[in-house]
Amino acid sequence: MKHLLSVDQLERGDLEEILEVTDAMVEVSNRAIPKAPALRGRTVVSLFYEDSTRTRLSFDSAAKRLSADTMSFAVSSSSVNKGESIRDTVETIEAMGMDAIVVRHRSSGVPAQIARWTDASVVNAGDGWHQHPTQALLDAYTIRSRFGSLDGRVVAIVGDIRHSRVARSNIEAFTRLGAKVVLVAPPTLLPATLAPWDVEVTEDLDSVLGHVDVCYLLRMQRERMNEALIPSLREYTARFGLDAARADRLGDGALIMHPGPMNRGVEIAGDVAERPNAVVTEQVANGVAVRMAVLFLVLGPGRHALPPTATAIASEPGPQGHDASVAGGRETDTHESEVGA
Ligand code: NCD
Repeated sequence: MKHLLSVDQLERGDLEEILEVTDAMVEVSNRAIPKAPALRGRTVVSLFYEDSTRTRLSFDSAAKRLSADTMSFAVSSSSVNKGESIRDTVETIEAMGMDAIVVRHRSSGVPAQIARWTDASVVNAGDGWHQHPTQALLDAYTIRSRFGSLDGRVVAIVGDIRHSRVARSNIEAFTRLGAKVVLVAPPTLLPATLAPWDVEVTEDLDSVLGHVDVCYLLRMQRERMNEALIPSLREYTARFGLDAARADRLGDGALIMHPGPMNRGVEIAGDVAERPNAVVTEQVANGVAVRMAVLFLVLGPGRHALPPTATAIASEPGPQGHDASVAGGRETDTHESEVGA
């Protein structure tokens, strides 16, 4: 895997392989010093043209845990504000010798376009309504951690499917891994066609709550709506919000998930988000491990001739005679700098 642009590119076996590599990364993350030398000498740059808290920090900490050097491109303080094109920005970054570019952009297709312009690996961190593959992987990982596998599990995805790259990515990943997906949304918040997906659809949240293993709530994507698609947020909350009474109707062991950022009081009641079966912070923690796995797989040994420390999971003696695998766990320095202006 050179790039990760879309869940579409991943067969079931590829998804399972990423989840297995994530297990190793969780093990690294649980150590006293959560660091391994696998990507030492590699540079990962994040290029975020759209707001983000968790995804950006998550990729950054994933790269650092694998001892890569990281750079972050702050669009708000960069030459983008002087009219520089994405292509020129990418060429500038590439000239500095980057190995991977993590891209978020409000337009669908930008990461794929960048992948055509550069020799570096490109990881899509969210493009418009289109895809957010690492979110789908971390969500699949979270479900698998609780249930052992997604096979036969029923996942309701509730809310603004139409504007959600998270929904598009999750539907593909979950169904490919054997789960049954039920979309719960008003018709105005569904995409024009559901044709490529093997999903059920309902407008009646109450009718599905007792049968699901996972209730996955989406944020109302107000910044991506340019017309009134719901009468009011209050009415939306009354019909599709997970309040305490609805959360009580979920079966024993059913999980409540949300990709964040949550609009408490809109799609999820504030106290419901604090329940023990709401695994939002577990999703965030798993996000770091999944992104470690993805960076490792796109930058891993197959791509370039690497120093032995980076041949990761296989155990090779390192410079101090230690096991230099991902499980090696030696502290290394990473450096962060900002590209811009
Ligand atoms: C999502 C995104 O940006 O697509 N957030 C995230 O990455 N955790 C979902 C959202 O913004 O609602």
